[in-house]
Amino acid sequence: MPETHSSPEEDKSVLQIWGKSSLKGHVTISGAKNSALVVMAGALLCPQDCRLRNVPSLADVSRMGEILASLGVKLTRQGDVLDINASYIGQSTAPYELVSQLRASFFVIGPVLARLGVARVPLPGGCAIGARPVDLHVRGLQAMGADVHIEHGTVNAYVKGPSRRLKGAKIYLDYPSVGATETLMMAATLADGETILENAAQEPEVIDLANFCRAMGAKIQGAGTKTIVISGVPSLHSADYAIIPDRVEAATFLVAGAITQSEISLSPVIPDHLTAAIAKLRAIGALITPESPNCLRISPGHGLTATDIETLPYPGFPTDMQAQFMALLTVSEGDSIVTETVFENRLRHVAELNRMGADIRVKGNHAVIRGVPTLSGAPVVATDLRASAALVVAALAAEGKTTIQGLHHLDRGYENLDTKLQKLGVKLQRLQGDSTTEVETAPLTPIAPN
Ligand code: EPU
Repeated sequence: MPETHSSPEEDKSVLQIWGKSSLKGHVTISGAKNSALVVMAGALLCPQDCRLRNVPSLADVSRMGEILASLGVKLTRQGDVLDINASYIGQSTAPYELVSQLRASFFVIGPVLARLGVARVPLPGGCAIGARPVDLHVRGLQAMGADVHIEHGTVNAYVKGPSRRLKGAKIYLDYPSVGATETLMMAATLADGETILENAAQEPEVIDLANFCRAMGAKIQGAGTKTIVISGVPSLHSADYAIIPDRVEAATFLVAGAITQSEISLSPVIPDHLTAAIAKLRAIGALITPESPNCLRISPGHGLTATDIETLPYPGFPTDMQAQFMALLTVSEGDSIVTETVFENRLRHVAELNRMGADIRVKGNHAVIRGVPTLSGAPVVATDLRASAALVVAALAAEGKTTIQGLHHLDRGYENLDTKLQKLGVKLQRLQGDSTTEVETAPLTPIAPN
């Protein structure tokens, strides 16, 4: 994995966007970040070659590659194809420096434990959007017979007995956590007997992981429903698997089309993964039509109207699209209420949107948005990945120039965003650290990665 990406401390580059542009044309949607990350972890289950296709080139994907490499796994990347060979896992301990940079890397605990009977993974800690504990992962692994204790900030998990195999169990998740469902599903593929996950997460990325594991020979039923049944097998085999398109990236471009009252098309997409986003875009006033089974077109309706949004586990409205939709609601006529129920601290973009002339008030986990006729470009700071996308979307509709700092957040989750927007006709430029002196900037707030 030869890519290098700037660390938060080094990231002094800014993105300047000139707003009030009208977008036109077609945008190609990349592979899903959150699928790619967990499928990469899932490749640890397999002692043979695995080929992953449609893997986006993102900072988070590079970091996950570094974690796998630190465990002794071999990775080769060419374009969007990533070959992983985990025939040899020489390390059961994931390094703190890497896990602390990418929460998703905690997910290696399930496959490493299933393969080796031992895994040591540092607690990833909280992040910009919330505390994000891992108690559901830990309790599930304990139910499968692992001895798990947390010492000096590291989760130590062992399986006792001569076979060192986890045991199938019936596990009820108190909350349908995406990560816990994925950890436990991966762990259960190689366990002795049947595991039943009740109240499992139903997100498309969970289904993608299940399909990848099935391609490797795992026996999994019910992924995408609240009950997933996994019958453990002794070992898995090589697979060639393509990651699904990124529904959050697709939704971000749909919002970009809506806020600029433009007509654009996007593919590949899986429209069923976008049901909640499409319903809200239609309620706000955008017209969305399927061009083909995997291509959507958005075009302007009669103005933008306020609507209420509450984030929920899938198939509810996704928390990962909340910030971008809030940007859209800032210029939608009337009062909207956005309620964030998944993460406890995911409204930090409000202050930045208000700097751009939005009228948003926050009370607890509710934001009340009073639509304004227009936003005005301003220097703003991205506080997390989806917040940065919201600022980009807002900048497209704002009068004048917006200068966005904290681009390491954006680069974690959006492949070639600058180029994709430029192709749609947006005027923008990225200035690297040493050329930013001419730019009016607000102080950078150091934020832990999410
Ligand atoms: N939670 C617990 N205990 C646990 C696990 C989760 O209390 O053991 C809580 C979390 O603190 C949170 C809620 O449950 O309040 C939901 O967390 P979940 O486990 O579902 O999220 P995740 O697996 O940590 C993934 C995505 C997130 C996305 C969420 C929800 C990856 C790598 N990350 O996180 O993506 O927001 O599911 O859909 O898959 C993003 O892409 O911007 C992003 C943050």
